[in-house]
Amino acid sequence: MAVIAANSPRIKVTVVDLNQKQIDAWNSSNLPIYEPGLFEVVASVRGKNLFFSTAIEESIIEADVIFVSVNTPTKIAGIGAGRAADIKNCELCARTIAKVATGDKIVVEKSTVPVRTAESIKRVLKSASTHKFQVLSNPEFLAEGTAIDDLQRPSRVLIGGEQTPAGLAAIATLVSVYANWVPRERILTTNLWSSELSKLVANAFLAQRVSSINSISALCEQTDADIDEISRAIGSDHRIGDKFLRASVGYGGSCFQKDILNLVYICETMGLKEVSDYWHQVVLMNDYQKKRFAKKMVETMFNTVTAKKIAIFGFAFKKDTGDTRETAAVFVMRDLLEEKALLNVYDPQVTREQMFEEFKYTCNVTPHSVPNVETLITTMKDPYAACEGAHAIAVMTEWDEFKTYDYQRVYDAMSKPAFIFDGRNILPHAELRKIGFEVYAIGKPQPRTTEV
Ligand code: UDX
Repeated sequence: MAVIAANSPRIKVTVVDLNQKQIDAWNSSNLPIYEPGLFEVVASVRGKNLFFSTAIEESIIEADVIFVSVNTPTKIAGIGAGRAADIKNCELCARTIAKVATGDKIVVEKSTVPVRTAESIKRVLKSASTHKFQVLSNPEFLAEGTAIDDLQRPSRVLIGGEQTPAGLAAIATLVSVYANWVPRERILTTNLWSSELSKLVANAFLAQRVSSINSISALCEQTDADIDEISRAIGSDHRIGDKFLRASVGYGGSCFQKDILNLVYICETMGLKEVSDYWHQVVLMNDYQKKRFAKKMVETMFNTVTAKKIAIFGFAFKKDTGDTRETAAVFVMRDLLEEKALLNVYDPQVTREQMFEEFKYTCNVTPHSVPNVETLITTMKDPYAACEGAHAIAVMTEWDEFKTYDYQRVYDAMSKPAFIFDGRNILPHAELRKIGFEVYAIGKPQPRTTEV
């Protein structure tokens, strides 16, 4: 919304939320999320044509176009639990809009929703109001960490609407908003259902690429092929392309897992078992990759990590974000905690509270389920301190700063043999080996211990 406001001085954008604390934070210099460049954009337009407020009803009355941008998490109970998306917040928004609106509105689904959600939204709006509503789908394709750039120069903007004169007019209105800064040929218009489904499919395809390369990384480790060389070799075929071929400890984030599970569920409910199974395999492969990493660590460290200190580098699901949702780190750490390892975590953006919340939400790790979890995990503000006396370092997030450390100093302070498990393939492995580290990386030729 800040980017819309920044590029469209004649449009007034009001972001509303029930949560006063969130709105206060958006109105302060301490924004509630970390995203490079976000503060600058917000600061440039806040109070001019961008406002943050809890005055939901007044804002609905005033608006011509309403973006519904609420979260649609995976359902945790009831029908489709663990797979289906929970769209109750979208429905609640529609009910509020219908109740409050004093004129016709364009309602835009910005949230990621199951295909044909617009139908339900439309019915709710229609049944509770006499005004005319057009529902559009306008999914968001930005990635965290590069959000501002993705929004300023999007590969495409997708707008779906009813193929009726009123629907096409609503599409044209939204196109005119984006046309303030996005070249017209990058604004794609489709029917409602294609737009809704495209978001799920885009994320499923991206996640599939990560799972595909990760599956091959396991084979590389058995054969001494090198996954980075394979990525380069296959990625230079322009039909395949070189993006999203970085092997890792597993993808995370708020979208991939949730959206594929949603796709899997939709296919299943439509009787498309083979299609559903096909996409589910992407998720299973990601689970396998995370498990495989933790298992490799334990096996390499002489089949036991009990009471061994392990430095965890990074907890966010990727670099340049403080977001921890579905981060691979949680799953790897959970497996290490089961082995009673002592974990020293360092992440430049993630707080201890946030980390424990993620543990609780994602895998139900609490002081109740894992006694002493609060003492087994130490959060550190200094990466060097995290490594003191540690038997191993596990790189979970590809933060650039990890590449700049003085690894001789790190090595000197660690227990020996000193292991590094690079879950992101970002460290200079040859140099580290020269220092004396035993280095294990994803899809790389494995060190062979020959001498006894
Ligand atoms: C994703 C989509 O990219 C974006 O279009 C959509 O709007 C939201 O979901 P995001 O979750 O922010 O964005 O991050 P993304 O950069 O896609 O990475 C997702 C996960 O895949 C991260 O954990 C990342 O580390 C991992 N990844 C990505 C890899 O492991 N290897 C890769 O080559 C690329």
